Amino acid sequence: MMNYCVSGMLFSFFGVLGLDEAEIEVLLDKNSALMSASLDLVRARILFFQSVGIDGFPLCLLITKRPNVLTAEEVDHFISFVVDDLEGKIEASQLERVFTTVEPRFLAGFDQKVKLLLERGVPEEKIVHILNTVNLSKALCTRPAEEIDRTITFLSRFGGIDLIVKRPKLLNYDMESQLIPRVGFLMKLGRGDEDAIGTVLTKLPAVLNYSAEHMKNHAEFLRSFAGLNDEEIFKVVVAYPNVFSASRDRKLYPRIQFLKECGLDSEDLFRFLTKAPLFLGHSFDDNIAHKLVYLIKIGYRYRTKDLAVAMGSVTRTSCQNMQKVLGLFLSYGFSYEDLLAMSKKHPQILQYNCVSLEKKMEYLIGEMGREIEELLAFPAFLGYKLDDRIKARYESRRKILGGGMSLNKLLTVSSERFSQRGETPVHVIEE
Ligand SMILES: *[C@@H]1O[C@H](CO)[C@@H](O)[C@H](O)[C@H]1NC(C)=O
Ligand SMILES: *[C@@H]1O[C@H](CO)[C@@H](O)[C@H](O)[C@H]1NC(C)=O
Repeated sequence: MMNYCVSGMLFSFFGVLGLDEAEIEVLLDKNSALMSASLDLVRARILFFQSVGIDGFPLCLLITKRPNVLTAEEVDHFISFVVDDLEGKIEASQLERVFTTVEPRFLAGFDQKVKLLLERGVPEEKIVHILNTVNLSKALCTRPAEEIDRTITFLSRFGGIDLIVKRPKLLNYDMESQLIPRVGFLMKLGRGDEDAIGTVLTKLPAVLNYSAEHMKNHAEFLRSFAGLNDEEIFKVVVAYPNVFSASRDRKLYPRIQFLKECGLDSEDLFRFLTKAPLFLGHSFDDNIAHKLVYLIKIGYRYRTKDLAVAMGSVTRTSCQNMQKVLGLFLSYGFSYEDLLAMSKKHPQILQYNCVSLEKKMEYLIGEMGREIEELLAFPAFLGYKLDDRIKARYESRRKILGGGMSLNKLLTVSSERFSQRGETPVHVIEE
């Protein structure tokens, strides 16, 4: 009679939440503790779930998937830690994921593990960010505290706790099967340069997604096809850890083949790949092909080093900006031949931001009263900062030298030499 009454109450209770009778029967069947649980307690749990945003259908899913989240004691402890100690700052989506992916027994000791992170040096103000960023199930709940401790010790060689604060996702990786062999590969390639590996892990923690075998194959390809040695390969990796994400057959091979056809030897390739590594990652159809078309239009020829150099330069800009830059030069009366000559001298002109280029050209003609053609002889003018260098120096020299000064001389001497030239007190330049 008593049981009948309790189950009647539970039926109506769960019915209100949106579960149908069959689901409730399965639920009571899977978690018999519900029959003897205090309904107040169950209700309090439900209210907690709702208060953190787990409600409606997701709540029903959670309850049917893990019926014991309603009764397990570990959940109580976990909830009070999250609400009181962490001030309820853990995101609902994180909590929902935890409750659905791990058995409540894995929630035990969560508070201790968080304390461990703090003891190992995570600043208090960062802890919530970390807990909201990692995969809580993997990084904390199902992992024993000793292993968390060992993981932190392992990673601390590559940048201390700062590395973990910057890249909490590193805690998601498994020590034995992922961290040790994968970092081990990088250590071997980089001859134990822990700082540089710290840089790699900061730039791309997900580099650890790749098996040591995968990384080894990529390195082997760069060794055999591009002629790089281990030291060079490691530098490319440091510049661009995503080199491991680029498919060997679809990206690395054709890109390096292209550069080799342009006449780059292994030394040139190394220089190119450290300066413009994104060339390996960009899409051919959406990016490289368009830039190639522009470069050919300007007058670059296939299979020339000049083309490779220009390509490296425009790797750092969008197709859109490049197109605008070409349009800008044409609108100022330059021809494609001019552009070819200028960009061979100073390839960066093709990659500069179009808006800032235009300001500099306007300043050159408007304020300085010069001819735009002067850029043909000194395209590097466009690379100096307008306010800090061009304006500052022009203003300070104008009165003395009048309009006839050489742009090249005005801009290229170092700041130190410029200010030592005497005619102008240093403070004027600094204004
Ligand atoms: C988090 O880790 C668990 C294993 O503990 C895994 O099943 C789950 O897919 C992971 N979640 C995400 C979002 O990667
Ligand atoms: C690495 O793995 C995680 C989880 O397995 C995935 O979410 C992420 O997108 C992967 N990152 C890369 C760069 O492959």
